[in-house]
Amino acid sequence: MKQTIKDFNLKNKKVIIRCDFNVPIKDGKIIDDNRIISSLDTINYALDHDAKVILLSHLGRVKTEEDKVKNDLKPVAIRLQELLNRKVTFIPVTRGKELEDAIAEMNEGEVILIQNTRYEDLEGKKESTNDAELGQYWASLGDIFINDAFGTAHRAHASNVGIAQHLPSGVGFLMEKELKELSILDEPDKPFVVILGGSKVEDKIGVIKNLVNKANQILIGGGMCFTFLKAQGINVGKSIVDEDNLQFTKELLMQYNDKIILPVDVKVTNEYSNDTPSHITDIDQIALDEMGLDIGPKTVALFSSIIENAKVIFWNGPLGVYEFSNYVEGTKQILEKIINVDAKTILGGGDVVAACNNLGFKDKVTHASTGGGATLEYIEGKELPGIAAIDNL
Ligand code: 3PG
Repeated sequence: MKQTIKDFNLKNKKVIIRCDFNVPIKDGKIIDDNRIISSLDTINYALDHDAKVILLSHLGRVKTEEDKVKNDLKPVAIRLQELLNRKVTFIPVTRGKELEDAIAEMNEGEVILIQNTRYEDLEGKKESTNDAELGQYWASLGDIFINDAFGTAHRAHASNVGIAQHLPSGVGFLMEKELKELSILDEPDKPFVVILGGSKVEDKIGVIKNLVNKANQILIGGGMCFTFLKAQGINVGKSIVDEDNLQFTKELLMQYNDKIILPVDVKVTNEYSNDTPSHITDIDQIALDEMGLDIGPKTVALFSSIIENAKVIFWNGPLGVYEFSNYVEGTKQILEKIINVDAKTILGGGDVVAACNNLGFKDKVTHASTGGGATLEYIEGKELPGIAAIDNL
C-alpha cells in the first residue's frame, strides 16, 4: 500500500504535486481538459488543508526551441485558474531565482504552476533521463511530494521518480482511483470482454498477451483488425497492415481462434480521407483498391451480442478512423452499447476516452483512464516506476 496525500499533515507545508497536464493544445487553446479536471480533487484537498501548492507537469516532447514555444504550459495555468476559481501563479521557467523567490513568498492556500518540466530536456535530456541533480533541485523546493500523474507513471523521469527519492511522498486521489479501478482487470468477473482498436498491432502485443488468457472474448476492430484478417488469408485491399506482426497474429489466431472475434463487414473507401466516396462491404469482398476505415453494421451487431452478456469490459483504441466524421459510427455505436449493459466498463485512455467524453458519456462508464501508455503498461503487468518510487505506508 502506498502512502496517500491523506497520510500527511499539509498545513503550511510546501507540497509539490506532480500532475499530468499533457493535454492536447491547438493554437494556444486546450482541446480536451479532462486531465486537468481529473487533478482537481488532489489540488483542492491540499488547498483546503492549508498547503502551499507547487504544481509540476510535462507537456509534449521538447527537442528544439520551437518545441518550447509549442509546449508552453501557460494555457494550462489559465484553464486551471478558471477551474479552481483561484489565482494560479505561472512561473515560466523550470529553475532559478524567479522560481525560488516566488516559492519563498508563498502563503498557505496559494498555487504555483512551474513551466513544462521537459524544457529541461533541451540540453542533456535532464528530465527524461532522471538526472540526479535535477530531481534533487526540484525536491529542494518543497517539503512533501505527491504524485498524481498516473498518465506519466510508466516514465522514470526527474519530476516523478527523481523528486520522490528526496522527499516524503504519497499518491494523490487520481492515482489512487486509477489503481483501484484498473485492478478490476487483475481478476475480472466473467464473462470478461476486451475490445481493441487503433491502427497498430505492435502497440497492443503486451496487452493481448496479458489479457488473452483472462478474457472470454477479444473483439478486434480499428486498423489493427486488417493484420488479423490478412493473417487469415482474407484480401484486405489497401487497408493498413502491420507486416512485422503478421506472424504474431497468425500464431495468436491458431491458439485462440475461438476467443478472437474479427469484423464481418467494414466501411471502405479508396483513399485515407473523409471526402472520398465510401460504402459498406462484407469482409471477403474488399476490392484491391479499397481500404477499410470503420467496422460495418453487421460487425456492430456481432460485437453488441457479445458485449450484451459481459460482466467486465475493457476497451482500448477506436474501432474506426475516429478523427474522420464518416468513420466514427462503429466506435460511437459500441460506446452506446457498453454504457447500456450491466457490466463494469473500463476505458483504457486515449481516443476512446476522448470519444466517450465528446458524446457526453463520461459519467456512464465505470472508469475512463487518464493514462495512455501508462494504462497499457499497467495492464501488461509491468511495474510503473512513477508508482514504485512512492513511499509505502
Ligand atoms: C501520455 O500522454 O501518455 C503521458 O502524458 C506521457 O507522455 P509521453 O508519452 O510524452 O511520455
